[in-house]
Amino acid sequence: MNALGKALLGFWESSIGKKLIVAVTGIMLVGFLVAHMVGNLLIFQGRESLNDYAYFLHHFLHGWGIWIFRLGLIGAFTLHIIATIALVRENRSARNSRYAYDATVQAPRSSRMMIWSGLTVLGFVIFHILHFTIRVDPDLAAMKDPMDPSRHDVYGMVIKGFQNPIVVLFYIVAISFFCTHLNHGISSLFQTLGLRSEKTRWVIGKIGIAVTIALWLGFLSIPFLTSVNILKDKGSPEKSAAHGASVEEVVKS
Ligand code: HEM
Repeated sequence: MNALGKALLGFWESSIGKKLIVAVTGIMLVGFLVAHMVGNLLIFQGRESLNDYAYFLHHFLHGWGIWIFRLGLIGAFTLHIIATIALVRENRSARNSRYAYDATVQAPRSSRMMIWSGLTVLGFVIFHILHFTIRVDPDLAAMKDPMDPSRHDVYGMVIKGFQNPIVVLFYIVAISFFCTHLNHGISSLFQTLGLRSEKTRWVIGKIGIAVTIALWLGFLSIPFLTSVNILKDKGSPEKSAAHGASVEEVVKS
């Protein structure tokens, strides 16, 4: 093995190396979430804004951009999970050897919660990608932007996708679980990076809560407001008015 390989292996084998990997990939994932939430909120500006944004994401760098970004995201997500599992195992075996005769000693409640809420995130992400990225529902996959039928209608798809109350309930429960994971994760992250002390603990706790609440409200506003019919597909008034056509006619054209 060459020197770089040895250094990387040593880094991975050390507990602080794995903690840093969890922290850095965690920062990347939170960055993605903030950007994704802000992008999603374009739905409140209307069909054109959201569809333009989705079109841009799929076409920048001649379509390569989204794949570079996806590879980065998958890499960060995979490393985050593998390093976390390795740390949990290390902690567990250290605890088992310390408390070899005490069968009542268990993993701390917060770390058990992190594992369960983390698994919920994984289940949610798989469902969500099948729902809105792969679009296993042929009705959602077939939606075309009435203003530009050559492109997919992400705006219409999201609103139609949240017409089913079971799907809305699933998003609400899964994203709420996911936010508990995030809240705990953000403060652990500061600790790992050595930035949490008695002095900063209060501020860090508040930052974690503020980011989590902003993401919770931002993400859930869309399924919630759709389910109570406040956010609805109003068609494309510009084109309908210009041509005196109904939305159905526009979609068919
Ligand atoms: C209710 C809130 C959410 C809405 C409305 C929403 C909407 C969407 C839409 C429309 C897409 C497909 C974009 C496209 O292909 O044009 C997408 C992709 C995605 N979303 Fe969400 N999302 C929400 C919450 C979340 C959350 C909480 C997570 C993470 C835990 C997440 C992770 C992802 C991922 C990983 C993708 C795939 C990105 C890619 O194409 O590579 N989303 N989302």
